[in-house]
Amino acid sequence: MGVAERTTMEYKTIKDVNVKNKVVLMRVDYNVPMQDGAVAEDLRIRASLPTIELLREKGANKIILISHLGRPEGRDKNLSLAPVAKALGEMIPQVAFINDVSGPDVEAAVDKLPKGGILLLENLRFFAGEEKNSDDFIREIIESTGAELFVQDGFAVVHRAHASTSAVANHLPVYAGLLVEKEVVNLKKVMEKPARPLLMIIGGSKVEDKEPLIVKFKTIADQIVVGGKIAADGYKASDKVYVAEDFDEDSTGAKLDVGPISTAKIASYITDAKTIIWNGLMGKAEDPAYATASTIVAEMMGEKEDAETIICGGDTTGFVEALSEEHPNLKYSLVSTGGGAALEFLLGKELPGLSVIELK
Ligand code: 3PG
Repeated sequence: MGVAERTTMEYKTIKDVNVKNKVVLMRVDYNVPMQDGAVAEDLRIRASLPTIELLREKGANKIILISHLGRPEGRDKNLSLAPVAKALGEMIPQVAFINDVSGPDVEAAVDKLPKGGILLLENLRFFAGEEKNSDDFIREIIESTGAELFVQDGFAVVHRAHASTSAVANHLPVYAGLLVEKEVVNLKKVMEKPARPLLMIIGGSKVEDKEPLIVKFKTIADQIVVGGKIAADGYKASDKVYVAEDFDEDSTGAKLDVGPISTAKIASYITDAKTIIWNGLMGKAEDPAYATASTIVAEMMGEKEDAETIICGGDTTGFVEALSEEHPNLKYSLVSTGGGAALEFLLGKELPGLSVIELK
């Protein structure tokens, strides 16, 4: 629990439902970075474990996991979820994988599962019905698996109206998993009743992605700071919006990191803040020579005990995860698994995958 009062969750979660002896269909977002056919970064896999463990504790009969990986057009062996099943199986016992999503082979694989066993189906996006939000596609999955209820725990995909986030609700009652609950509660809290001052730190490179967030948070935040390439490219400071004013440059004069004067200013905002949302790196942080400002922001936020600290956006969470591995003392209220979904949530958009969850 952070410093601010807990925000209530309007959606029913798996804590509100009896799953004993039931077959549970659970949407996860295992769209994880891969390298050489193996999982390269497992934040989203680890983030799904609390829900799986609670379903097992509550006596679920079988847990059928569904996810997408990448943006394939038809079957693509490089985007199979088989390596993800392997990574999951190294974290928890009784994980099986089947290279299909419906039909006799899936039925047989479900039959073979022991009590509390997990079956990960193949990449949903190998089939056109997923992105078409096809009723028939998800009905076949439900019939082949015998699923009796649906758990939405793929927070990172709730901004998509796909069969596994939207049409599924025409067939099964939908409950939120613990990851969706954690993300929603933390993100709502900073929007609705943040401990103040609320500081938003924006970086990254695409001004068109960040501008709506800056505009929206001008009415919510007490202070916004802008670093990264958008600052280097000349983003204009305005009321409440501080834009980095000096930069570390390479030999060609390219501005690749926020410089020491601006970093000190950002650090003083961090010291004072009681809620901090960080989205977007301060510089070209994949190069250690230009990771100084991002590292200072990450360390200061991770060491802060008197503030809610939220990290979002794929590059930023990846950076913070890597740093936290070296420095396990760094702690954050939320390292969001939702890239685009978290941003759309913060912008106040209605998210199709959330709007179908049963209300309390
Ligand atoms: C993500 O990584 O943001 C989600 O998994 C959604 O993926 P998508 O942008 O391909 O729909």
